[in-house]
Amino acid sequence: MRTIQIKQILSQARVGDTVTAKGWIRTKRESKNATFLAINDGSTINNIQAVAEPGQFSEELMRVITTGACVAVTGVLVESAGSGQSVELKAQNIEVYGGADPDKYPLQPKKHSLEFLREIAHLRPRTNTFSAVLRLRHALAFAVHKYYNDNGFFYLNTPIITASDAEGAGEMFRVTTLDMNKPPRTDDGKIDYKEDFFGRETNLTVSGQLEGELAALALSKIYTFGPTFRAENSNTTRHLAEFWMIEPEMAFFELEDNMNLAEDFVKYVIKYALENCTDDLNFLDKRLAEDEKSKPQNERSIPLLEKLWFVVNNPFERLTYTEAIKILVASKPHKEKKFKYDVAWGIDLQSEHERYLVEKHFKKPVILTNYPREIKAFYMKQDDDGKTVRAMDVLFPGIGEIIGGSQREDNYDKLLARIHEVGIEPEALWWYLETRQFGSAPHAGFGLGFERLVLFVSGMTNIRDVIPFPRFPKSAEF
Ligand code: 4AD
Ligand code: MG
Repeated sequence: MRTIQIKQILSQARVGDTVTAKGWIRTKRESKNATFLAINDGSTINNIQAVAEPGQFSEELMRVITTGACVAVTGVLVESAGSGQSVELKAQNIEVYGGADPDKYPLQPKKHSLEFLREIAHLRPRTNTFSAVLRLRHALAFAVHKYYNDNGFFYLNTPIITASDAEGAGEMFRVTTLDMNKPPRTDDGKIDYKEDFFGRETNLTVSGQLEGELAALALSKIYTFGPTFRAENSNTTRHLAEFWMIEPEMAFFELEDNMNLAEDFVKYVIKYALENCTDDLNFLDKRLAEDEKSKPQNERSIPLLEKLWFVVNNPFERLTYTEAIKILVASKPHKEKKFKYDVAWGIDLQSEHERYLVEKHFKKPVILTNYPREIKAFYMKQDDDGKTVRAMDVLFPGIGEIIGGSQREDNYDKLLARIHEVGIEPEALWWYLETRQFGSAPHAGFGLGFERLVLFVSGMTNIRDVIPFPRFPKSAEF
């Protein structure tokens, strides 16, 4: 007997075929005339219904067939009498791989809170919501690779262990093999990292960008897609300590090209999901609509699918940081002192400001450019006014910043001066600086936070629910 996925059975098998469905029982319903088992193997959000006749199987067998048990059901496909499915499986043989004691199995068929499901992250992929999110996540990752491959980019693997916090993006996690209880000391009592595995201090990377730039100045167009780590203590719904980032880097691209690529790229991956994850997105759309019902009318967000198509079909608003500050200063929440953080030229925009611009003012995704140099990383190309840099952030409704990027400083002297200014040791970045001495070229790139993208497309509200096993302060259980 050929084992095929339930998705294939439901879409390709014909009435009269004998098939074996293997999966986990979602529900078991018993009536006078039959027992109905809804079986799901995660290949699709849809279950296959298996039907057993009364007395057909031993009582002993039927007792271990409960929600959560893993089974293989062999039978003949027949047209379904019930609504909700076109075919069902008339069981001829049932094999139980593993039972799930109903007194102990935590995932009984009822609505569980997302908070509770986070505590059982080892089982939550068996729920409709999480399996839908995980399939969507896969499709989005696939679309990312497809987009770049189709557009002449090369996938570059940048190091995960790094010796520089060149990004200055946040607190880093240390990587060491030293004995923490008895670390070797230098003469002045400091920990002697010369004795450490790499002979120096090393950390988990916060970004693959700097290495990405090296490769872009050879292969022209590259992208990374890898895990990044930030030990910032942000207990928010949009921050993880371990997240995945996609970082394209392109030689011969300036800020405008960078913006065009970012917009085209996110639209492409969202459209890919809309076209290839129909069942899952329909489910998530309904799920969100159900959640929204509990909110007052004026606080409800627009339906998920409508929101996604809107983003795909409309140009993003583009404006400078300086223009955005003017809008914010003139805004009602600023005048009425409703913002928690004050607004003035030079501030790092807070998420309340970003969301005002996106959700209230423009009502669409926004690309902000030319930020003050003081609040951005040293590598961004300086504007001629001496005050701003060629940065760009893409801001999304409900999310805030989803992409951060810039054109890079390609002038050796300016870059070196900036490195001194921000207090980085130039020796630590000698290799980065050399690319500006040997065949320097205009180039640009950006980073898309993959989980923020999944968050947006799935309509989930907490970033911890769009990665299989989230890492955040005080949590690394699974
Ligand atoms: O804006 P960031 O810090 O930019 C960089 O790291 C650059 N090196 C990117 C580049 O130009 N190649 O981070 C990029 C994106 C953010 O816009 C956000 O979507 C996401 O990464 N991000 C996080 N996502 C989840 N949890 C966190 N703690 C995140 N920090 C940043
Ligand atoms: Mg940023």
